[in-house]
Amino acid sequence: MAKRNESPFKCHVFVCTNDRQGKRKSCADDNSMKIRKVLKEEVANRGWKPQVRVSQCGCVGLCADGPNVMLYPQKIWFSEVSENDVGEVLSAVEGVLNE
Ligand code: FES
Repeated sequence: MAKRNESPFKCHVFVCTNDRQGKRKSCADDNSMKIRKVLKEEVANRGWKPQVRVSQCGCVGLCADGPNVMLYPQKIWFSEVSENDVGEVLSAVEGVLNE
């Protein structure tokens, strides 16, 4: 039987990095790996670990609107994210940490 636990993170940031190699639109087409990297660096630089975790994930079903970045358990989704939007995502995470 699976072991069920509560998430150890106050905010878990998922970045879709699915890459269809150009066969169909996917989040990796628009630099989602770089977005993930910058988010990870910023979370570390701001000392938010271990409350915040940044993870890459596979397709979440909104491929045409990608790159997609999701905050859980807050259920906040950002779509059409670019590197210029990382600050906005981080502001949302900061808001969660200040709740
Ligand atoms: S490829 Fe990212 S949501 Fe489908």
